[in-house]
Amino acid sequence: MGSISSISSLPFDEYIIPPSWRDRAIPIDDYKRICEESLRNIEEFWAKVAEQLKWFKKWDRVLDSSNPPFFKWFVGGELNMSYLCLDWQIEQGRKNKVALIWEGEPVDERGEPIEVRKLTYYDLWRETNRIAYALREKLGVKKGEIITFYCPMIPELATLLLATVRIGAAHSIVFSGFSAQALAERIKDAESRIVVTADGMYRRGRILRLKEIVDEAVKQCPTVEKVIVIRRVGLTDVHMEPGRDIWYSDLLSDVPRNVYVEPERMRSEDTLFVLYTSGTTGKPKGIVHDIGGYAVGLYATMKWVFDVRDDDIIFNSADIGWITGHSYNLYGPLIVGSTFIWYEGAPDYPAPDRWWSIIERYGVTIFYTSPTAVRMFMRYGEDWVRKHDLSTLRIVHTVGEPINPEAWRWYFRNLCRENCAASSTWWMTETGIILISHVPGIGLTPLKPGTNAMPIPGVEADVLDEDGNSCPPGVKGYLVIKTPWPGMLLTILKDPERYVKTYWSKFSKPDQGLWIFYTSDYAVKDKDGYIWVLGRADEVLKVAGHRIGTAELESALIQHPAVAEAAVVGKPDPVKGEVPVAFVVLREGYSPSPELEKELKEWVRKMIGPLAEPAEVYFVTKLPKTRSGKIMRRLIKAVIVGAPLGDITTLEDASAVEEVKKAYEELRRLVERK
Ligand code: WTA
Repeated sequence: MGSISSISSLPFDEYIIPPSWRDRAIPIDDYKRICEESLRNIEEFWAKVAEQLKWFKKWDRVLDSSNPPFFKWFVGGELNMSYLCLDWQIEQGRKNKVALIWEGEPVDERGEPIEVRKLTYYDLWRETNRIAYALREKLGVKKGEIITFYCPMIPELATLLLATVRIGAAHSIVFSGFSAQALAERIKDAESRIVVTADGMYRRGRILRLKEIVDEAVKQCPTVEKVIVIRRVGLTDVHMEPGRDIWYSDLLSDVPRNVYVEPERMRSEDTLFVLYTSGTTGKPKGIVHDIGGYAVGLYATMKWVFDVRDDDIIFNSADIGWITGHSYNLYGPLIVGSTFIWYEGAPDYPAPDRWWSIIERYGVTIFYTSPTAVRMFMRYGEDWVRKHDLSTLRIVHTVGEPINPEAWRWYFRNLCRENCAASSTWWMTETGIILISHVPGIGLTPLKPGTNAMPIPGVEADVLDEDGNSCPPGVKGYLVIKTPWPGMLLTILKDPERYVKTYWSKFSKPDQGLWIFYTSDYAVKDKDGYIWVLGRADEVLKVAGHRIGTAELESALIQHPAVAEAAVVGKPDPVKGEVPVAFVVLREGYSPSPELEKELKEWVRKMIGPLAEPAEVYFVTKLPKTRSGKIMRRLIKAVIVGAPLGDITTLEDASAVEEVKKAYEELRRLVERK
């Protein structure tokens, strides 16, 4: 039920136009013409969008391709993201408009939220200025430095981020579900001098002591000079390291209330933020995003994909620790001056209708969530949804992983009452913005359960075979982007070579001036030109939509004293899409036991975080390998998904066929026994 199992089961020929969208519907061919027109001159096309933003200085060149694939957008242009998100909105008359509606997790005995805060654009602007002042004048924050954030979703975080970018610094937000070890690795790579956290956070009625995790991480990070601590849950026994740790309230206490900090004039290609994400090695990649291209890309997609109007209320369930949180739960909503909701806690606390009660309470019109969440709510049943009036919704999109048609139909019926624009928006941490989706703000092409639809205007995507030829409709291949786009990553922090190798080597032909961005996704196109992304083509898992590299899990496992070798593969899961399972060879002196299995699972939790915990650990005496010594993950994967061996042997060293078969049978028996 979770993942998309076969192409032939996809509903290529189902066309759905929600009744209330009939007057905004456009035929597929008309949309294709809009896209073709936009691609005739992408620089001209994107310049027209950029003109709608407010720049301190206009760009000299729309796209600098002088050093590909290090493309730069709007070079010569100067702007500031905090200015665009706050000052510019106030200039447009939104001073007293509510920007952020925040709801804390705790509830009273009737299940009603105890804490709700509504912050206007003016509230955010004032607070941002005060923090910007404190960061610069009291902590000496400099343009270009990277501040690391490890925080719950609370309003202080929003203004801290806006203050950071106001004075020209950049942020690296680490998801609060990551472990101390994972946090330390990211702080070290970013060489952060300042880390921001909270005393604790609420999760499903319990308190997680975040500051303790930061203390443990910072021990390993010599660059860290200051830790700012926001008081969220009011713990009274928080250790504050003298000279290093400072309460957020103390940092602000002597800052004048109406201080104004002029936004830094940033170059378009300066760094707005770094966000770490998993790839195929053990080391996460620091994806670097610019300001100008990102701002333009966000502005466009907010209008086109979310069709944002001034009276919309946006609820995006993504945590700020992921790119979806950065782009469409902070900067995107602010840059178009809308009202958006941050909910701090768990979706099923105190009951599985928390999100539906939020949608009802605030009259949410645009809801953005993940297929995993949809499948979780399917399990809880329709009654939880039916209890609430969700009739304000007009757009409900998903992101993060393929949505199986069954889950799409469920939410289209139960959340959308078959009357919303409902798109599976495809993009990546690296793309910064949504690149493939329906675009109701331009015109709604027919919906199909589970499709990603077509690229947005100004972006060219295709599905290629191994040789770089376009795949005909119905044939699976690799998803690529054929044009640079605003919002694209600039590079990988401190590793430009890896940037070129990972994204631009597979299909590009530099000698012909041809640069093709490789996404690492499998996809198929249908006869209408709709793209259906099928999943990752590399060793990266999507666990509940969270991106985790198997190499990271393996490198965590082999750091355990009992483990000699480890191989991790993804196993399809009805709710989470996929879950990691580990195959482990033990060192001399250790023997398999349920206790050791438990210990290894906990070890991975501790090393990376709860989201990475293997669902199962199998103890094996050896891992199947090619003659050249490479672990045959495809074989292990075939065993796990119950696929026949036939498909694999051809992919591997042919001389080892017999050994491969033997290894397959052995593993299969092991897995079946469990
Ligand atoms: C997957 C998330 C199918 C894809 C914004 C991609 C999707 C990876 C979709 C990036 C979708 C994201 N349909 N697959 N609508 N959206 N993906 O960096 O495999 O966390 O490569 O960014 O998520 O994950 P990331």
